[in-house]
Amino acid sequence: MDFKQHLTTVEDYPKEGISFIDITTLMQNGEVYRAAINEMANYAKDKEADIVIGPEARGFVVGCPIAYSLEKGFVPVRKKGKLPREVISVDYGLEYGKDSLTIHRDAIKKGQRVLIADDLLATGGTIEATIKMVEELGGIVVGIAFLVELGYLDGRERLNGYEIFSLTTYDQ
Ligand code: PRP
Ligand code: MG
Repeated sequence: MDFKQHLTTVEDYPKEGISFIDITTLMQNGEVYRAAINEMANYAKDKEADIVIGPEARGFVVGCPIAYSLEKGFVPVRKKGKLPREVISVDYGLEYGKDSLTIHRDAIKKGQRVLIADDLLATGGTIEATIKMVEELGGIVVGIAFLVELGYLDGRERLNGYEIFSLTTYDQ
């Protein structure tokens, strides 16, 4: 399936010079959304993931249905102040901004095989921070799945050593 055909590029959003890939047009189409999730879930299954983790907010849109379809648990990574119990946190830089991410301290058990899912790989800052937290809790990152990879940024290099699966890649 040509997933790119269902994604929309919005120039100069949210800032001048940024080409924003809007996934909502893909999600609006039930058949295409399901096909995308199925491919990502097959990857997660191949990696024998025990649990799926996704960063707020768009990581929930892909991570939750992957977990559901594999009958695995889902763990949210959230921006600071949003999780109610004891968390660990990591500061991170974004393609356009800075923030910190948090995860519940008891969310991952030592030795668990973790699949990280997000909508898009840009600079890799979000996922680098997510990996740090997963590993601090003793989880093993067995794969990272994206709907979209921006190949012209250095995300893949930044995540060097981890296995990355992307449904679509933009080279410019
Ligand atoms: C976007 C996107 C990825 C991240 C990619 O999330 O959903 O999570 O940026 O950028 P990076 O590879 O440079 O880290 P954003 O923080 O804008 O928030 P949202 O998912 O809540 O919309
Ligand atoms: Mg995000």
